[in-house]
Amino acid sequence: MFDPKAIQNDFPMFRNKPDMQGRPLVWLDNASTTFKPDSVISAVVDYYTKETSNSHRGDYDLCYAMDQAVLHARKTIARFLNCEPREVVFTSGATGSLNTVAYGYGLKFLKEGDEILITEAEHASNVLPWFQIAKYTGCKVSYIPLSENGRITPKNLEKALTPRTKLVSFAAVGNVLGYLEPVKELTKIAHNHGVLVCLDGAQSVPHMKTDVRDLDVDFLAFSGHKMLGPTGIGVLYGKYDLLSKMDPFISGGGNNDKFHMDCSVTFLPPPERFEAGTQNLAGILGLTKAVEYLENLGFDSIVEHERKLKQYAVEKLLQTGNAEIYNADSEAGIITFNIKGVFAQDAATYLNSQGIACRSGQHCAKLLNQTYLKTPATVRASFYVYTTEDDIDALAEAVKNGGNYLDAYFI
Ligand code: ALA
Repeated sequence: MFDPKAIQNDFPMFRNKPDMQGRPLVWLDNASTTFKPDSVISAVVDYYTKETSNSHRGDYDLCYAMDQAVLHARKTIARFLNCEPREVVFTSGATGSLNTVAYGYGLKFLKEGDEILITEAEHASNVLPWFQIAKYTGCKVSYIPLSENGRITPKNLEKALTPRTKLVSFAAVGNVLGYLEPVKELTKIAHNHGVLVCLDGAQSVPHMKTDVRDLDVDFLAFSGHKMLGPTGIGVLYGKYDLLSKMDPFISGGGNNDKFHMDCSVTFLPPPERFEAGTQNLAGILGLTKAVEYLENLGFDSIVEHERKLKQYAVEKLLQTGNAEIYNADSEAGIITFNIKGVFAQDAATYLNSQGIACRSGQHCAKLLNQTYLKTPATVRASFYVYTTEDDIDALAEAVKNGGNYLDAYFI
């Protein structure tokens, strides 16, 4: 049986019983980052205490062992995503991955008159790289209109595509509304128009099985730290043919075969072409353990656990009579709300005083507040494998009392 309390025992952050403001910490900011299990932490510590060396840069045993470990990590991620190891590029995170596509593909192949399609629900990492490419190339960023209830629909994608559209980039699950988009169907439509699909998996890959062959997306970006892995490590998946055509976003040691006085350079093939500089080796090893940990729990169970928690949280928050919820019907374990009559950041500060960690503000998705949400800021509670109904009860209790407390506190 899936038991989040038992899962907590694998996490030093829980075993250490942290408190916040003198109360036991209730961690509900998993869409921002997640705690790490022992296996991930040990992999990182082992790298620094027993296995330190660079990769691809030495002819001695330690370095050879590290090369093998990185190869194993790449194969593990490839199996996890159902792709080839050479299609797995290690990056600094989803942001690094999306910039690699934008600068590696966009800067090289897009030109004035071309169009990139995104949505208003994207977080900054899937907006700003495209703005930059538009600035440098003269191409245009346009938007797939969201449906009335905040989703990307096949119909709206069809309407937004034009003969000039070259690439569409969207999140499989938005980090504010948490809707699970019909990725496979959207990808098929884009491909029928000869348009590439770049999928931001930052909020989906940690929570559900992702099969890139089945989805048929051209690129996929995600971060390790949102899926129990270390910070500073992430992955870009790209179809090999596309990666082979692209230029590196970052150049330096480790991504080239040779270079000459006349500035000519031969870059290595993917994935090394996109991995210049010493890699985050501890991060790569830790990420592998995070993947193994999640696979061991099983994504079917994780999806079911988060679905139940979401339903429970919606019911409990509605019962308080004090919460305005913006995404009650979304699939992900993300609930975005406001305490009625209270500005979101004040509400989050109040929740902090009750030991509860939630994110507030615009959650990096600054277009969504201006358009769809029509509210300056929201509070977001987000769940993961170790979140319990007790955590949600604590949130609901605080929200129930929130109005009164804040009246007393701020008047
Ligand atoms: N993208 C992260 C979030 O949604 C930081 O909080």
